[in-house]
Order: sequence, then structure tokens, then C-alpha cells
Amino acid sequence: MEKNPDKTYTPPPDKSITIRALLLGAIAEGRVNIKNPLLCEDTSATLSCLKTLGVKFHISKKQITVEGRGLKGLTPPMRPLNAGESGATMRLMAGLLAGQGFDSVITGRDSLLKRPMARVTEPLSAMGAGISSRGGRPPLKITGSPLAGTRLILSAPSAQVKSAALIAGLYAAGRTSVTERFKTRDHTERLLKHFGAKIKVIGLKTILKPGPLKAGRIKIPGDISSAAPFLAAACLLKGSKHIIKDTGLNPGRLGFIQALSAMGANIGLTVKTSNPEPAGDIFIWGSALKGIRIKPARIPAMIDEIPLLALVATQAEGTTVLPGLGELRFKESDRVQSTLALLKAFGLKAEIKKDALTIRGPQKIIGGKPVDTFNDHRIAMAAAVGSLLAEKPVKIKNAGCVKKSYPAFFSDFKKVFL
Ligand code: S3P
Repeated sequence: MEKNPDKTYTPPPDKSITIRALLLGAIAEGRVNIKNPLLCEDTSATLSCLKTLGVKFHISKKQITVEGRGLKGLTPPMRPLNAGESGATMRLMAGLLAGQGFDSVITGRDSLLKRPMARVTEPLSAMGAGISSRGGRPPLKITGSPLAGTRLILSAPSAQVKSAALIAGLYAAGRTSVTERFKTRDHTERLLKHFGAKIKVIGLKTILKPGPLKAGRIKIPGDISSAAPFLAAACLLKGSKHIIKDTGLNPGRLGFIQALSAMGANIGLTVKTSNPEPAGDIFIWGSALKGIRIKPARIPAMIDEIPLLALVATQAEGTTVLPGLGELRFKESDRVQSTLALLKAFGLKAEIKKDALTIRGPQKIIGGKPVDTFNDHRIAMAAAVGSLLAEKPVKIKNAGCVKKSYPAFFSDFKKVFL
């Protein structure tokens, strides 16, 4: 099947990097220009929290200017901060609030109220923060307490938790070191360095000295996780050729591309810029795929792409094993269950045993049944790819949840593939 050869597509700006740029910009010394910011539900939640702390923004579609207030310039909030459904906003803000000399409460809504917070309150408490949750879930209550630089070893492989500890470390007396079990995305480390923080990364360990951040500018690259459904569809449509432009190529986010490549997909990268974030174009040709075994240490680099990879694996010849998926249970939905339900709704088979997903392919994508998104944007986007390849038409329930990260997803996807 040949569909739309040589199609060019540019993904929306990166969510993780936009959230960090807003948050670090708010505590920089002076004006920070963020070019090409992502405007979506999650980044609106970050903006709302920072506005509650007295930060001023000038917002247009192409740029956000943040009037940075310096490390000590935030104002005590008059009401609880609201992180909406954004886990990254809540956890990174927890690190920021832990370092303030005032009390605060941060809450959220729907799926965020069910997501685990002990993973962030524990390391922050070890640094001296006065922070408590409601039985390990939001809301978080923070009392202004002095922080001490601490050696932390993180149990959960989570970039959000690592980032919270590093942001709190800006306010601590002495050095903070954070060691992870598996390497996770390093956007916070890169941006801290870009804004002049004294930070050093040695393998799995990051060391930060406290100190101010200077004003500056950053251009946000395209979001590789938003591009991922386009990559999945492109490599499954035999004979097709696609170019995905100006996309973030941070090594901590390349797991999906590396997995597709190992499965036999024809993919090429051209890195065009590298500071503070590598970015460039991705070329992808529809290809015959074979099953692979992924190592647990690689899962963080493809953490948001597992539903897509599972779907792609159903089309590959042979067996694919995706181990170490425990972290997926704590996303917008229990993404192990919602991925299995998604596959089942398309008439596809997969097995889960001890957080390892096994998929044997190739299988026929039958469709014809309604597909639930479980209000999870990543499941909705994977459902769109499944629908494109299904034999019978598919109704995607609650598809509007894509506005969390990518409001124009369905119209962009139709433009490229239909
Ligand atoms: C994110 C990190 C990942 C990812 C999430 C965004 C970030 O979460 O799933 O979509 O911006 O740091 P964890 O750090 O909890 O794995």
C-alpha cells in the first residue's frame, strides 16, 4: 500500500522542555524568551501555577516572555496552585515550592489526583523540606523550610522526580547529588546549565551547586513523543516516505526510534542544532519489521511510546518483548492495562507477565469496535494509528483527551495520512 509519498510534517513543540523553560524562567534573574513554546492543557497548568506565585508572562503563539523574579522573588500564593492533570507540573513545582520561604498547597484534577507522589515527597523530605501528601497522592502541602544539599539515590526511574530534586537543590545549602538507576531524559540538567547553574553530569549521577540562574533565551524543538504516532504510521505504511522536521533528538527520548530501527525500519536522523537540546529531521520509510527484545534500561527513553511500540510489534514478524513496564502503571491511565485493552479492541493479542509485555506478530488489525482512550492522550494517539491500519472503521471514545499535550493531533494526523 502506498499512501502520500514524501510527506513532510513538523510536530508541535516539546511539552517537557516547555514546562521546564517556564518554571526555570520564572526563577531566573531577568527576562527569559521562550521561542516556539507548546500551548496545551499541561503547559497552561504550569503557567497558572507560576502566575499564582506572582510571575508575569507575555504570551503569543510564537513566543512566551517570562519576567524572571530570581530565586527568592516568588510571592506567597493566596490560594492553592492547580497543576490540572500535569504530573510534570506538579512534581517539578514540588521541588520549586520546597525551596521557598513560604507555605503553599498544590493540587490537581482527575487522573493527577490518583498519581503517586511519595516518590517526590521522600527525596524532598530527605533534603529537609516540609512536605506532605494525602496518603501518597495529591494535594501536596509544603511549609517553607531550609534545605540541605543531600546525596540522593532515586528508586523510581523518573525524570520528574530527578528534576524536582535538582530544582530544590538550587535552594539548598551545599551540594546536591542525584543518582538514578536508569538514565532518564535530561532536559532539566541541560536547561539548568543553559541558564548558568553549576551542574555536572557523570554517568547516572548529577551534581548541582546552589546558586542563581541567569536570564536567556531558548527555542523549543518539536516533541518527539507527539511525532511518535506519525513515525509509527509511517513505518507501517509500506512504500511510504516521510520527513519529520525540527524534532527534539535528546538521547533520553530516542528509545522508540532506536527500537523501530532495531526492528528493521528504515530511519535516518539529521541533527541540525545541539544547544541546549539536540534537534533535527527524521526520515522514515515504510518497512518490513521483525520482533525484538528490549532491555529494561532502555524503557525510560521510550516511556511515553510503549502503547505505540506494542501496536507496531503486532505488525512485526516474530516475538517482541517489552520488559520493566512498572512505571507505566502510574501515567494518565494504568498504561499497561489500557494498552492491553487498546490492542484487544482492535482484535490484537498480547500477554502481560510481571510487567513484561509479549507480542507475537504479524496479526491482523481488525477494528470495527469502539476503542476506549481511558482519557489518556497517548492511548488516543496510538488508537489513531490502529484505526488507520484497521480493516473496519473504528470509533475512538473520548478522543478530546489529546488536548493535554497536542490539541491539533487529529487534524494534523488526517492531513498527513488521509
Ligand atoms: C516527563 C517524564 C516522564 C514522562 C512524562 C513527562 C517529564 O515521566 O512519562 O510524560 O517531563 O519529565 P516520569 O518522569 O514519571 O517517568
